[in-house]
Amino acid sequence: MSTCSIIHHVVMKLFIDSANIEEIRKAAKWGIIEGVTTNPSLIAKEKGDFRAIVSEICTLIDGPISAEVMAETVAEMIAEARSLAEWHKNIVIKIPCTFDGLTVARKLEAENISTNVTLVFSPNQVLLAALAGASFISPFVGRLDDAGENGLNMIARSLKILKNYGFASQIIAASIRSPLTVALSAELGTHIATVPFKILEQMIAHPLTDVGIERFKREWRASSK
Ligand code: E4P
Repeated sequence: MSTCSIIHHVVMKLFIDSANIEEIRKAAKWGIIEGVTTNPSLIAKEKGDFRAIVSEICTLIDGPISAEVMAETVAEMIAEARSLAEWHKNIVIKIPCTFDGLTVARKLEAENISTNVTLVFSPNQVLLAALAGASFISPFVGRLDDAGENGLNMIARSLKILKNYGFASQIIAASIRSPLTVALSAELGTHIATVPFKILEQMIAHPLTDVGIERFKREWRASSK
């Protein structure tokens, strides 16, 4: 009888941080995007209502699609989240990192509704969101950098906290402003980076790739092959 061993390894995932259908459609075609994060500001920039936008996004990417609750009380957030979760099986409920938000996250996760605790800026917030059982936790790298702090250091500390205790939550490096941040997030072993479309485009670009393609073409054409 043969035995086989299963190697469990964590693979970094890229999400697109956008509510723009054209951007998401283009990025989906590349075959490397596994989820989408929206937020109220991103939805506000687009035409159409919240449900229509999110529902269309769900047809483009078959993975976690974050939609944020706007209600403010625990009861209202839970009611809003349950109704958002009915739109599609892949909807993840984005909840701000407050004690009320954590109460909501705990409740929703118990109902098998995935949550993404957002607007996370400190290691203690990561610890609390992990204790609440959030599926995803989103530290905002760029906004920390904007405030003169070290966003990537926050990611490293977040990952260490989860690893120390084997929390199942996944860190999403959010508020990304440069391709360098994505690369450094990957070097840190971050589970997921959610990346704006423009920065996804910048990630593939390198002048030596373009020069190399041109040179291969030129030399191929000049030969008699
Ligand atoms: C995270 O999920 C948010 O949608 C996003 O990354 C916020 O980025 P910003 O700081 O560029 O608004």
